[in-house]
Amino acid sequence: MLLEARNLHIGYGDAPAVWDVSLEVDGGEIVAVIGPNGAGKTTLINAIAGLLRCRRGELRFDGADMTRINAHAYCSHGIALVPEGRRLFAKMSVEENLELGCYLRSARTARKEVERSFRTRNGMSEEEYLQWCIKNLEHAFIAQVDPESVAAIIIEPVLGEGGFIQMPTAFMQKIRELCDKHGIVMIADEIQSGSGRTGKLFAIEHTGVVPDVMTIAKSLGAGMPVSAVVGKAEIMDCTHLGGVGGTYGGSPVAAVAAIEALKILSSKEFLDRSTHVGNLIKSTLDSWKEKFAMVGDVRATGAMCIVEFVKDKNSKEPDMEIPLEVLKDAVAHGIILIRAGLYSNCIRLLPPIVMTDEQLHEGLQVLEDAIARAHEKRGK
Ligand SMILES: Cc1ncc(COP(=O)(O)O)c(C=O)c1O
Repeated sequence: MLLEARNLHIGYGDAPAVWDVSLEVDGGEIVAVIGPNGAGKTTLINAIAGLLRCRRGELRFDGADMTRINAHAYCSHGIALVPEGRRLFAKMSVEENLELGCYLRSARTARKEVERSFRTRNGMSEEEYLQWCIKNLEHAFIAQVDPESVAAIIIEPVLGEGGFIQMPTAFMQKIRELCDKHGIVMIADEIQSGSGRTGKLFAIEHTGVVPDVMTIAKSLGAGMPVSAVVGKAEIMDCTHLGGVGGTYGGSPVAAVAAIEALKILSSKEFLDRSTHVGNLIKSTLDSWKEKFAMVGDVRATGAMCIVEFVKDKNSKEPDMEIPLEVLKDAVAHGIILIRAGLYSNCIRLLPPIVMTDEQLHEGLQVLEDAIARAHEKRGK
C-alpha cells in the first residue's frame, strides 16, 4: 500500500477543519495537511485515501464547487502539506497536491503562486492580482512556514518552462525584502533567461533587484556544455572546496568558451541586438493574437518570446493539442521549436540573437503558416 490514512477527522464548510490527519507514506514519512476551513484538505485526504466519495455540490471552496476536482479551474487554490520539519508547503490545486502527496519523499521545496498577468485570479485586475500575490507571499511566512526554516527562495526572473512569465519588479522587491528581513538567501535562476537573452545580461536586471546567488548555463558557453553558480563571496566562500560542483564542472575548454562568450554577451551591441530581435518577434506575434482565435496571449521579454494557445479567448482554457500539431507542421517545413507552459500549451521562441532579420522573418513566416493551417482546419 502506498498511502494509509489514520485518525481522519473530516469536516465540510463550517464543520471542524482536518487538523490531525496523518498519512503513512511509503518510506515512513509523515504528512500533516493543514489549512483554513474549506481549503480543500478534506478532498485531498479523502481522495488520497480513497475513503469517501463526495456528492456533487457537497464541498465548496471560495464559493466554488470542489466536488469535481479540476486542476485547470482550481490551480490557484491553496493547501499546505507539511511534512516533519515544516519544510514544505504548496499553493497548488487539489489535483496537484494529490500528485505531490505521492512523491513526498522528494518534496523538500515549496512553490508559491506568482504573478501571471494573463490569468489573474477571480476576475482581479493585474494590479490587484499582483498585490494579492505579494500579500499571499507575506502571509505564507505567518501561516504556512516558519521563515527560520527557509534557507533560500529560488525564482526565475522570467519563468522558462512555466511559460515565459516575467516577474514584476514589485514582486521581486518583496522577495528581496523578505530575504533581507529573515536572513534567507535569494537565488535567481537565470539558466534560461540570462546570458543576454532578454536584452540585459541577466533578466533580473530589469527589476533592479540584486540576488545573493545566481545560476547560469545554456547560452553561457555558446554551445559548449557549461554552467555556473555565482554569488556573493560571503556565501560562495563558505562552502568547502568543491562544495559547488557537478560532473562536468571545471572543463577548461568549456570555461574558455564561456569567458569568450561572456565578452560578447555582455557587450552593448549584443544586448541591443537582443532587444531588437525581441521587438521584431513581438510585433509579429501581436498580429497573430489579432488574426487567430486560438492565440490567447503572446509575451516577450527581449528575445524570450512565447505564443500561448487557448481553446477560447474568454475562458482562456489552455489548448494542449494545437501546439504539438503546429510544432510538427513547422518541423516539416524546416523550423524546430519546443513547447512550454504549465500545460505545454505554448510555443516558445528563443532564436539565436546573431541571426539576420531576414532569417528571422523567414522563420516566423513558417510558424505563422503552420498556425494558419491549424486555424483553417478548425474553421476558425
Ligand atoms: C530555468 C531553468 N533552470 C534549470 C534548468 C536545468 O537545470 P538542470 O540542468 O539542473 O536540470 C533549466 C533547463 O531547462 C531551466 O530552464
